[in-house]
Amino acid sequence: MIDYLTIEKALEIAKLKSKKRFPHVLGTYKKAIELANQYNINEKKVSIAAILHDYAKNEPLDKMEMLLETIDPDLIQYNSVVYHGVVGSYLLQNKLKITDKDILLAVKNHVTGHPDMNDIAKIVYIADYTEDNRTHDGVDFCRYASKLSLDIGVLAISEAIFHYLHKISKKKIHPLTEATYHHFLQKVGVKSYEIIKNNYQSM
Ligand SMILES: [Fe+2]
Ligand SMILES: [Fe+2]
Repeated sequence: MIDYLTIEKALEIAKLKSKKRFPHVLGTYKKAIELANQYNINEKKVSIAAILHDYAKNEPLDKMEMLLETIDPDLIQYNSVVYHGVVGSYLLQNKLKITDKDILLAVKNHVTGHPDMNDIAKIVYIADYTEDNRTHDGVDFCRYASKLSLDIGVLAISEAIFHYLHKISKKKIHPLTEATYHHFLQKVGVKSYEIIKNNYQSM
């Protein structure tokens, strides 16, 4: 249960973890609430997951690798950017004693995505990528797509991440990144997605 953890307390914890990253945390929280309201999803769970999604972002690499040796050794072969989702979820469970599966899974999958993400996880995944402080290429299309449906939002983001990683990554791309993109492309439909992209371009 998450009853003991208030939004204020979660914000305090996130701020203590990193003052520098706190604007991103606030932006993700704000965007997550917007999406929760639009799609009628449990606002408290979404808020806690959004506020704590980068809980492990600043953990030293060697500490994360040490933890991963026990919790998910397979992950170490991939780009280290994916570590903090899995490690964050583990630390929230073991340090903060959060047991809520929706929150733990949303944090765990916020970097790679997952074909089976529920609406709470989809919102955290989308909010992390599209919050107001983000300025990367294609982010406005991802914001537009997220207003059409959570699935279309996840598709636009997973496509952008997949193509970006293909260009820059020296290490193997995590299979969940690719699986998320392909799953949501099939779910939305290749033709429907083409129409969505064309409509956006002609706006
Ligand atoms: Fe993250
Ligand atoms: Fe983030």
